[in-house]
Amino acid sequence: MSDLDELCLLFDSELEKVEDGRALDDLRVRFLGKKGLLTQKFKELGALSPADKPARGAELNRVKERLQEALAQRQQALEAGRLSQPTLDLTLPGRRPRLGRRHPLAQVEARVRSIFRSMGFVVETGPEVETAYYNFTALNTPEWHPARDEADTFYLDAERLLRTETSPVQIRVLERGRLPVRMIAPGRVYRKDKPDPSHFPVFHQVEGLYVDHGVTFADLKGTLLAFYRSLFGEETAIRFRPHFFPFTEPSAEVDVTCFLCQGEGCRVCKQSGWLEMGGSGMVDPNVLSGVGIDPEEWSGYAFGLGIERIAMLWYGVDDIRLFWENDLRFLKQF
Ligand code: DAH
Repeated sequence: MSDLDELCLLFDSELEKVEDGRALDDLRVRFLGKKGLLTQKFKELGALSPADKPARGAELNRVKERLQEALAQRQQALEAGRLSQPTLDLTLPGRRPRLGRRHPLAQVEARVRSIFRSMGFVVETGPEVETAYYNFTALNTPEWHPARDEADTFYLDAERLLRTETSPVQIRVLERGRLPVRMIAPGRVYRKDKPDPSHFPVFHQVEGLYVDHGVTFADLKGTLLAFYRSLFGEETAIRFRPHFFPFTEPSAEVDVTCFLCQGEGCRVCKQSGWLEMGGSGMVDPNVLSGVGIDPEEWSGYAFGLGIERIAMLWYGVDDIRLFWENDLRFLKQF
């Protein structure tokens, strides 16, 4: 038996054992790779006499072709076998994909947006990094006002800060000088509050602003009443308590009848029958003239509502921090 016959025998017996693509590759390398058994024989050709070389060379080439063909056949057989094997059992019940869902605060905000949109309000946005001018000065909030204090406000430098309310969007929209304006501005606001069940240093508000000829407090009442009835149900009533905000005059806080007990008094409204929802008022003439609008010709109302407040009451969530922890066990409930 020649050395090449032996090599072929060895190859054939090894090929028998090959069960997968990886073993087939190993076999290919072992015989035909750079240092393969057959390759080695080719290398030895150089040492032969010119007379012997051609015959040996032709023989080596024949063997090489034979091995390559056998490898290719085996590969085809392996692939065919793999395809015919059932790797996917179509009779098994499917795995349900885990669906995400909107965050409860996003759901509430979407509802608020859609109610105001249906009443003709457009949605505006403004930057969360604001200047002291937009956040305070233009909103008639004087230098000495405690809201400007570093103890309450995240300042980035002397002039820039994280907005403490959505009210600066009022100024940015009014500045454009296109009246009338009927807009809401939902978004995040920041305050240096220590986290506790009802405080978190970031939360959401929805600002509202309507400026036109002859807007009155009655328009404000009618709009907010329609809004809260749409949100909490047709039996809902609202009341206004006199208050102070630098950018509205007169100003009022808005309460709605507790939607849980319909005003009877319960745990949610702390037996008062009323829930505090936000601030509102008639846009202060100083704010209008500050952006070049004549307060003799135009008037307006504004309001600011807390989204977390609505969401907590609506869903019965008793700790605001839950909205920010992103615990799936919490989020999955909405
Ligand atoms: N910006 C006020 C706050 O964060 C809420 C507010 C009150 C907004 C009265 C208004 C308003 O537009 O008219 O406490």
